[in-house]
Amino acid sequence: MHKTILVALLLAGSIFPAMLLASPTASGIGQTPTSAQISNWNVDVSASGAGLPPGHGAVAQGQLLYAARCAACHGTSGAGGPMDRLVGGAGSLTAAKPVKTVGSYWPHATTLFDYIRRAMPFDSPGTLTNDQVYAVTAYLLYLNGIISESTIMSAKTLPSVVMPNRDNFTEDDPRPDAP
Ligand code: HEC
Repeated sequence: MHKTILVALLLAGSIFPAMLLASPTASGIGQTPTSAQISNWNVDVSASGAGLPPGHGAVAQGQLLYAARCAACHGTSGAGGPMDRLVGGAGSLTAAKPVKTVGSYWPHATTLFDYIRRAMPFDSPGTLTNDQVYAVTAYLLYLNGIISESTIMSAKTLPSVVMPNRDNFTEDDPRPDAP
């Protein structure tokens, strides 16, 4: 490589980062995200159900989806594994070996939607539509005996589902000098 070019490259390499540090707003790098881009990431759903998207799903649709996309890891009826057990364990939390599942342990049904939408299927998270997430949520709640087979899950109905273990969580502030 020609010596002058090499020197120029070296100079550019050291000056350019310095410019970035000195004036981050004038770097010309990056762009303001659009609201559509932000909404793709802004998917958190609170316990109250705030943030649940439009859409709905039925138990029967969830059953089909579960068989195709979940059963390989969670067992045909959700209780077999090989990965986390999702069904059963009711009343076992005070036993020597508690069986913690969505049905026996989780305090809010809304969290189930949030978790599945962002994390499952484990090998391809983010690939389910909102309707599919509502449907498989409905199916898991049904398998746990928490909703009936005909209940449709949506932003309206999901927050009103009462999970069996809901009242056994405390919201006390753990800090010793908490106000
Ligand atoms: C490739 C395997 C795999 C597939 C497919 C899969 N899961 Fe999972 N799932 C896991 C693993 C592993 C965990 C534990 C993840 C962790 O603890 O971080 C998990 C955890 C979960 C949990 C939380 C369990 C708990 O009590 O903490 C739920 C709910 C769940 N999966 C639902 C689903 C649903 C619904 C589907 C289908 C749409 C699905 N999973 C597909 C592997 C899988």
